Amino acid sequence: MSFPTKRLRRLRISEKMRELVQETTLTPKDFICPVFVQEDLKTRIKVESMSEIERLPLEEVNQEVKEIIDLGIPAIMLFGIPTQKDEAGSSAFDDEGIVQKAITQIRKEFGDKIVIMADVCLCQFTSTGHCGIIQGDKIDNDTSLDTLAKIAVSQAKAGVDTVSPSAMMDGQVAAIRKALDEKGFTDVSIMSHSAKHRSNFYSPFRDAAECAPKFGDRKTYQVPFTNAREAMMEVETDIDEGVDMVMIKPALSYLDLIAETRRKYNVPVSAYSVSGEYALVKAASQLGYVNEKDITLEILHSIKRAGADMIVTYFAKSASRFLQES
Ligand code: PBG
Repeated sequence: MSFPTKRLRRLRISEKMRELVQETTLTPKDFICPVFVQEDLKTRIKVESMSEIERLPLEEVNQEVKEIIDLGIPAIMLFGIPTQKDEAGSSAFDDEGIVQKAITQIRKEFGDKIVIMADVCLCQFTSTGHCGIIQGDKIDNDTSLDTLAKIAVSQAKAGVDTVSPSAMMDGQVAAIRKALDEKGFTDVSIMSHSAKHRSNFYSPFRDAAECAPKFGDRKTYQVPFTNAREAMMEVETDIDEGVDMVMIKPALSYLDLIAETRRKYNVPVSAYSVSGEYALVKAASQLGYVNEKDITLEILHSIKRAGADMIVTYFAKSASRFLQES
């Protein structure tokens, strides 16, 4: 049927009619809120490039988590910034490390009122700023796997619900699953940064988490942003290795991959709307070029429309407030 019999404007006639046919919805329940905790910090530090995002001292983490819970957000993603960095990244798997302490403290205070997820990577903890262990002049995949598995186990001991490996080492999901199971942590789930691209959208995060590589770049481990089939192979290998939830990262320039993953596989799909996506919106809003509320909600709806079941986003708190208002 064609014009004038078919008129698509009929279903846009009123607010209520539009609500009725709305295909994609967004709620605070869709969000995972990143939390940065820094060892030996006395007061909160603002992240210069990410307006309203702060690094927290351990003492202030529970207050932040309470705020997140009160907004109706079901999960956090913890990132730690340690005082000591070395080539082995040993502060990452220290049972008394900053992330482990934060997990213990949050679990004690809030029980199962929040899903505690934690980043499993090395770049914040290594003196080299790389996501794996350096041997000679290379990032050695298999040595890195042992360390990543140790980090996951130490976080599991502290009470984490979900470990989230972001190092992009081959076999990281299998290595972590095996180590967790051997130690009896069969209920700890894995949300892998499956298709994590070598992206220019990460620069503000490196400010937030002090994890820029000291030399070279991440091109030998992260997926090139030109390659969609390669990204799908990353997702597929993670599923084969027993991942519980996969992730596409970044989100906004990668909606095609979110959609394809949603269509091809039955696992829960998360999207990580990364620091650069946040910084661009914040900067343009502050300059008055865009309306922050409207653009934030449009971006997050579009990520869900593409097929994401959940979104790791720095907008988690502000968007939850916007949703309550609207
Ligand atoms: C570290 C890590 C990065 C991000 C999450 N975990 C940075 C990187 O790979 O360089 C980026 C997140 C963001 O930009 O918000 N493995």
